Amino acid sequence: AYPWIFLKPLPVPAVAQPVFTENIDGRTIQYYETTIQPFQQQVYPNLGPANLIGYNGTAPGPTYYIPRGVETVIRYTNKGSQSSSVHLHGSYTHAAWDGWAFDELQPGQWKDYYYPNTETARPMWYHDHAHGHTAADAYYGQAGCYIITDPAEDALGLPSGKYDVPLALADKIYQSNGDLASPNGNVINFFGDTIEVNNQPWPYLNVEPRKYRFRLFDMSLSRSYDLYLVDQNNNPIQFQVIASDSGLFSAPVNAKDVVISMGERYEIIVDFSGFKGQNVTMMNGMQITQINEFANTDKVMRFVVGNTVSDASNNAVPSSLNTNIAWPAQRSTIDHQFNFQMGGADVWTINGANFNDPNSRVLARPPQGTVERWRLRHTGGPAVHPVHIHLVNMQVLSRSGGFRGLAPYEAAGLKDVVMLAPGETVEVLAFYGPWNGMYMFHCHNLIHEDHTMMAAFNTTILAS
Ligand code: C2O
Ligand code: CU
Repeated sequence: AYPWIFLKPLPVPAVAQPVFTENIDGRTIQYYETTIQPFQQQVYPNLGPANLIGYNGTAPGPTYYIPRGVETVIRYTNKGSQSSSVHLHGSYTHAAWDGWAFDELQPGQWKDYYYPNTETARPMWYHDHAHGHTAADAYYGQAGCYIITDPAEDALGLPSGKYDVPLALADKIYQSNGDLASPNGNVINFFGDTIEVNNQPWPYLNVEPRKYRFRLFDMSLSRSYDLYLVDQNNNPIQFQVIASDSGLFSAPVNAKDVVISMGERYEIIVDFSGFKGQNVTMMNGMQITQINEFANTDKVMRFVVGNTVSDASNNAVPSSLNTNIAWPAQRSTIDHQFNFQMGGADVWTINGANFNDPNSRVLARPPQGTVERWRLRHTGGPAVHPVHIHLVNMQVLSRSGGFRGLAPYEAAGLKDVVMLAPGETVEVLAFYGPWNGMYMFHCHNLIHEDHTMMAAFNTTILAS
């Protein structure tokens, strides 16, 4: 209703700064403080501000850039009006700090979350995970990027600094007063008519005629995208996909589009050197068939290409990116099969179980340190179910039963979310570690997650 398409610049979230840093027994620990608080953000210049609740008064929250192996302790203080639980999505966090849905901070409370950050370089994100209202909390601003860096990646000469930009996608609906329309009340899906990047509807970004690295995050509640790029004559532009949820691929994958569903991440390299003085537009080819799709949801953002390059360094994409992907040991036995389907008018279930029922909450018990092969099936409901398994990195082995097979970029790296479209079956292999603990797995359509399409697995090894 209030398009402002490609008229406002892309905001880039502030970089999180530690309150202090310590060295203890040879390890570096950074301490951060984050407040969950209401704030206002002027999204549309001609309307009133949007009332949001987010991390340190911005949406998305600050972006963390953490060198691999630097431990972090983040104190989250809840100054909002609802409970919250913070999950660092993609991190192998110990269970105590993983954002269990019932481990809620009530208003006024705080908790220190500890993250070991020993993963290789990868794009993670953090968001609320409170029981029953995760969708609304993420929608109103409790989400942000958390990126692990490492020397092996830095040595590759990939675009960095201002040429390395996080792009967090989400769809929203605004009211005529500039405030958001609530996603509450939706029990099947929430689809917005407004496509935002970093909380700005349809922004533009001034770029130089050189290579850029864009880190794509789908932070939408229910919307998946098929992203592609066109020049100003509407001709498609090829790009390279270099990384996904768990970091760099062994080699770049050339693509003309990338499908990204809720919770997933892909990193792409776009070379603007042939487009001096022109526009390049990021489009969305995914039409939502369950609704009468909105007018402008086929557009995402625009890149306005200048004529000069201010820094020509770090403009490479080596043909070998990563020789250290921790592929799980192969295994042909199916250890578990999970059906993702409706369970009633407003209940979504996994194998008929729902998270509200403590007697059916734990659905798998892979002992810590073992590899399991899970078959994930979409067996019902007019919606995509992106399946997120906490703690682990999955190899996506196969995709069948739907309109597409396994995309090359889906198989090129390890993932923590895998999309399940209606009718599809996907098989995934994962190493259940490195810790003991009880962890959630769930649909990352946050409307479904809140309506209990969530379960747990337990990796704890018992002392005999
Ligand atoms: Cu991105 Cu269990 O969450
Ligand atoms: Cu779902």
